[in-house]
Amino acid sequence: MKVKLLSGVATVAVLAMALTGCGGGSSSGGASGGGASEGGAGAAKTIKVGFAQTGSESGWRAANTKSMKEAFSKEKGFDLVFNAADNDPAAQIAAVRSFISQGVDAIVIAPIVSDGWDDVLKEAQSAKIPVILEDRTVSASEDLYAAWVGDDFKKEGETAGKWAAENLGTADTNMVVLEGTTGSAPANDRAEGFSSAIAGTKIKTVASQTGDFTRDGGKKVMEGFLQKFGADGIDLVFAHNDDMALGAIEAIEAAGAKPGTDIKIVSIDAVKDGMQALADGKINYIVECNPLLGDQAAELVKKVVAGQPVEKTTYAVDGAFDQEAAKAALPTRAY
Ligand code: AHR
Repeated sequence: MKVKLLSGVATVAVLAMALTGCGGGSSSGGASGGGASEGGAGAAKTIKVGFAQTGSESGWRAANTKSMKEAFSKEKGFDLVFNAADNDPAAQIAAVRSFISQGVDAIVIAPIVSDGWDDVLKEAQSAKIPVILEDRTVSASEDLYAAWVGDDFKKEGETAGKWAAENLGTADTNMVVLEGTTGSAPANDRAEGFSSAIAGTKIKTVASQTGDFTRDGGKKVMEGFLQKFGADGIDLVFAHNDDMALGAIEAIEAAGAKPGTDIKIVSIDAVKDGMQALADGKINYIVECNPLLGDQAAELVKKVVAGQPVEKTTYAVDGAFDQEAAKAALPTRAY
């Protein structure tokens, strides 16, 4: 069951999950036995958490990693084992297996891709180690993890698509798409949301290719598109994240065209570099994807390890920015 946003009442009894062998327990003996124990009676217990991060592909990811490390700090009662898998799904699954064999109290995963998680999640469940997902979702059964916290990728795509439909949808518009990592939830869901929002408009997708959420990837793919269609043959870029949009800007400028004017750009994330490009008129619209998920993830871990109920699904709040809004937001932008 999906529960909107950060408010809402607890709806998922993790205790029940513990009974079915999913979540709620710790490697050292369940809810009241709590995480790795240190110190004598009454001493606060340190919770040992393995965090399997995707990698370091983007500015968004850097902000997310920082938020997670701050939230899972020693001072806040955690012993964090951090792994970044360099965008390699097999390496990320291996990291989770290593957390299981280390006997951590909980595992947090930002899954690179949606598929392929069933076996390792079942292994964690058998070891009675609860799993919390942050950022991206998986296609595996909800029974295999305790909770998820992240952003509504489909809605982000819809919001970006609505902007495109309203601003460009009545004239013939050739669009190229810079897709995120193939098989990842944000790439799938943003594409779906955007397509539904531009349906029935005059926006035509002439090419769509992955740039893997990286600046370099966005630049290379955009160079290919420019070679194929020429700057005159492209009216709009939909970039699944700011980093790829920033790479596309470099490619467009190198081709002698003006990003934001000759070729419009809409992207997702709203990291500082993207917002600066928007304020400079090189990007036309950005939908926010909030990376500051650490505190919510840490709260979920604490509750799950303590056997308390948690919401199964928690969405972060996302906004959207045009040029004026970006200029206003930039001075206090946290990431
Ligand atoms: O999963 C969130 C996406 O991953 C962000 O939009 C992108 O920048 C990151 O790499």
